[in-house]
Amino acid sequence: MKSTVILGTGSAAPDNILTNFDLEKIMDTSDEWIIQRTGIKERHIAKPGEKFSDFALPASRQALEMAEIDPVDLDMIIAGTLTPDTLMPSGGCTIQALLNADKAAAFDVCAACSGFVYGLAIADRFLKNDPDLNILVIGGELVSHHMDWNDRTTAVLFGDGVGAAVVASRENQGAKILSVEMQSNGKLGELLYFAGLGSEHPVGREDFKPEYNYISMQGREIFKHAIRNMVEISGKAMQKAGVTVDQITKVIPHQANLRIIEMLAKQFKKPLDQVFINIDRYGNTSAGTIPIALDEANRSGFLEKGDLVLLTVFGGGLTWAAAVLEW
Ligand code: COA
Repeated sequence: MKSTVILGTGSAAPDNILTNFDLEKIMDTSDEWIIQRTGIKERHIAKPGEKFSDFALPASRQALEMAEIDPVDLDMIIAGTLTPDTLMPSGGCTIQALLNADKAAAFDVCAACSGFVYGLAIADRFLKNDPDLNILVIGGELVSHHMDWNDRTTAVLFGDGVGAAVVASRENQGAKILSVEMQSNGKLGELLYFAGLGSEHPVGREDFKPEYNYISMQGREIFKHAIRNMVEISGKAMQKAGVTVDQITKVIPHQANLRIIEMLAKQFKKPLDQVFINIDRYGNTSAGTIPIALDEANRSGFLEKGDLVLLTVFGGGLTWAAAVLEW
């Protein structure tokens, strides 16, 4: 029987690396504090002029190449991002044009860090209805353009990068998506806030303040909600997939804070060598964390045939999601 599968993955990030020591020179922070409190050592930061599509395009091409799918055969492009090149055309449409994926419907999903897994959920539901579709799901950000480099509580945490996956319906091919669950709580939305180009604070109006263009976060509050909700939604996804936590062999968690990852590993009773961690090299790339980690885990051999893999993510909105894959 056919089921939704991932056929290929890809990822890309800016060449420019910003280390904790570089940050020490521009704000009141230290390598020691950042490593101890977050696990981050360095992050990729776009240079002025670099944009979302500069990284979403190579990530997509890699995923398509691995999947052996021609861009002209794509039916849909879903981009989970808060930071497309432009709001209109959407990030999905920009990539559609660059790929010459002429028959695809393309759009963005605005679910902050959860954007990629939300995109997987949408792709899965479409494929259950129409198994002939080929869908490209992208997730990632150029979040550094929206950092207040005077705000040490948030600026040290984030980095830029994009990942992608090609999703289709197949029998005996690719990594099966057994379940994808998602949830939100808009009532707590202000804990992680980015006014951006929203209609509440139109750019250019006399009362527009620079901070509307920056991401801000109440870190301690978010920390608690992140753990609680990722554990809960992971339980739902495992139940839906018909697997127990003991059967899960690999975990790919959102890369927001090493302490959160370690607490999740403890909750799921998994040794850290079964948990994929790259936060030390990327920081939090928002919607990019899961697809970049998935691609690195795939290409490095961390994921082995037969693995039952749990993806779990939490982000602004608030939004959270989890998926179970059979590799
Ligand atoms: N460098 C040095 N000191 C810093 C600092 C920095 N970059 N940022 C904050 N501090 C200071 C604070 O000012 C505070 O000082 P005080 O005690 O004198 O007031 C102290 O460090 C502790 O701050 P606190 O915010 O309590 O730290 P924390 O242990 O909660 O860690 C986060 C902060 C942001 C790393 C952590 O809360 C976190 O990761 N939150 C969740 C992020 C997340 O999950 N995001 C997911 C959605 S994207």
